[in-house]
Amino acid sequence: MIGFALCGSFCTVKSALEQLKLIVNSGYSVQPIVSETVYKTDTRFQSAEYTFNALQALTGRDPIHTITQAEPLGPEISLDALVICPCTGNTLAKLAGGITDTAVTMAAKAHLRSDRPLLIALASNDAMSANLRNIATLLMRKNVYFVPMRQDDPEKKPHSLVADFSLLPDALQAALNGKQLRKLFI
Ligand SMILES: Cc1cc2nc3c(=O)[nH]c(=O)nc-3n(C[C@H](O)[C@H](O)[C@H](O)COP(=O)(O)O)c2cc1C
Repeated sequence: MIGFALCGSFCTVKSALEQLKLIVNSGYSVQPIVSETVYKTDTRFQSAEYTFNALQALTGRDPIHTITQAEPLGPEISLDALVICPCTGNTLAKLAGGITDTAVTMAAKAHLRSDRPLLIALASNDAMSANLRNIATLLMRKNVYFVPMRQDDPEKKPHSLVADFSLLPDALQAALNGKQLRKLFI
């Protein structure tokens, strides 16, 4: 089973759901997870209810949305891989800093106990400013991989990096084989 966690990069949630559909269609069972922010926040991009219902419909499982629900994901419910897509700058910084105060960071902490891959699809406006050091920290961490990413708008958003979500299935296969899909920056 694959864990698929969504954080509050609301403009990329629909792209993430498209990739989730591909993963489900390729035969994986998937346990969805949402951060508390995704669970409760309505935005101009979609409502919280839309995301929750779409995840339920795609996977046939209720999305995990609390720390308590996420805690068994390593010791009791073992995942072949955990994907965080999209991963916010906020969650990236917490992962790098060892902070565990959301369902998604709890899932990551529990999962990494079992030495299995964590795959991050980052979407953040501060990826190349406040969060650049956190990318470096996580690149050096065992079992952590990234979906290749690019500067999505170097003129208007000079510090932004967004994963190429279409590379998620290939990056997942690579991560399951213990490898980082390259090029990392495209
Ligand atoms: C409409 C909207 C869009 C957002 N888009 C992003 C984004 O693309 N990337 C990001 O890092 N944060 C984004 N944020 C900020 C995060 O939602 C915020 O940092 C939140 O605390 C993240 O919580 P989480 O990481 O637990 O999901 C956005 C917020 C709003 C309201």
